[in-house]
Amino acid sequence: MAKTALIVYFTMTGETGLLARRLGVALDAAVERIEPRGPAPDQPGLGLATRLRTRAEAIVGLRQPIRPVRLSPADYGLVLIGCPAVLGRVPSPVRQWLSDHGEDLPPAVGFFASTGGPRPEAMFADLARHANRPPLATLAVPRACQGSEREDALMIGFVKELLPALPLLRQQRVMV
Ligand SMILES: Cc1cc2nc3c(=O)[nH]c(=O)nc-3n(C[C@H](O)[C@H](O)[C@H](O)COP(=O)(O)O)c2cc1C
Repeated sequence: MAKTALIVYFTMTGETGLLARRLGVALDAAVERIEPRGPAPDQPGLGLATRLRTRAEAIVGLRQPIRPVRLSPADYGLVLIGCPAVLGRVPSPVRQWLSDHGEDLPPAVGFFASTGGPRPEAMFADLARHANRPPLATLAVPRACQGSEREDALMIGFVKELLPALPLLRQQRVMV
């Protein structure tokens, strides 16, 4: 059966990718990674200088060219966008994806982030600005609690907030 939800994410060191895959299973969603052109920041075998440069580009670049994606948000009723918390701003590969695909987003969106500190409210607000719509729900998982019961609880809360949108979306799909 076609999936009703899409999860797109960017990651520097892999943590947001773990969240994306777990959410993909929980919501039976399609999952796609947003990757900068050139080496990914977490690619094995990169020298320290290249790793730092690719991370810095992802954070401070106004726009960063990204690799073509396979999936269009226009085909889904719910889209979740995930990235690491970095200095209160949306990382540039995600900004580029939103610039390319933002107009195709459905009304129902959610945001999630792996963080090193407190909830990244400024980044979620920046995401909402770039996506041009408020999220149904947000999830922030501190890196220190990934893989713990606390993470499970945060994820369950997020999925519960999104669930009301899902049966409706399935119904709409069946009716179309
Ligand atoms: C350059 C840099 C800036 C960061 N800025 C923040 C920040 O402002 N707030 C925060 O909570 N965590 C910050 N972090 C921590 C990351 O959000 C955290 O390590 C996260 O787990 C990385 O996710 P990823 O593995 O998906 O890239 C920063 C990390 C780096 C490398």
